[in-house]
Amino acid sequence: MPIQHASASRLSMTDALTILHGSSTGNARRLAERLAQEASLRGIPANTDCLSHFDCAQLAAIRRLTVVIGTWGDGEPPDAAKGFCSRLFAGEVPSLEHMEFAVLALGDSCFRSFCGCGVKVDECLARHGARRLLACRKLDAKYHHDFLHWKEEFLGLPLPARTT
Ligand SMILES: Cc1cc2nc3c(=O)[nH]c(=O)nc-3n(C[C@H](O)[C@H](O)[C@H](O)COP(=O)(O)O)c2cc1C
Repeated sequence: MPIQHASASRLSMTDALTILHGSSTGNARRLAERLAQEASLRGIPANTDCLSHFDCAQLAAIRRLTVVIGTWGDGEPPDAAKGFCSRLFAGEVPSLEHMEFAVLALGDSCFRSFCGCGVKVDECLARHGARRLLACRKLDAKYHHDFLHWKEEFLGLPLPARTT
């Protein structure tokens, strides 16, 4: 099954899994793409796209969301995710009670605000009614092993019921 790299307006909302990434140097993007590829290999229809293309209004139609996001500055979003984060943090999102989610937060524990942006995204999605499937997973600089472990756990979850 092919992975779809679509601009937001073409994201297929009927897919079982939507994976959005916010990345500056490509770490979060690569993990998002790997996750989408593995999901597709397992027969789980998955979309992946950059948060810079994403309109928060589209959250209303997503059933299962994964956000893979780095942290920059001192707990700040990467540039690609600034628009999304400012709207989410300000509460400018629809009700998310229909949605399930998991956040994969990338960072470096040398920094004071370790994975601060991903943690905030996780908290905001839950505050707006989305159901947390897994606790926010913080990935440190050497994340390969932890990512593989998280991926198995996440892709092993039962799929959401089809609503469309
Ligand atoms: C200038 C700079 C600032 C950073 N600030 C933070 C930070 O505040 N907190 C954190 O956990 N990681 C921080 N990091 C680490 C990045 O989040 C980490 O390298 C991550 O894997 C980057 O993912 P990306 O390439 O997808 O953006 C910083 C890295 C750099 C180079």
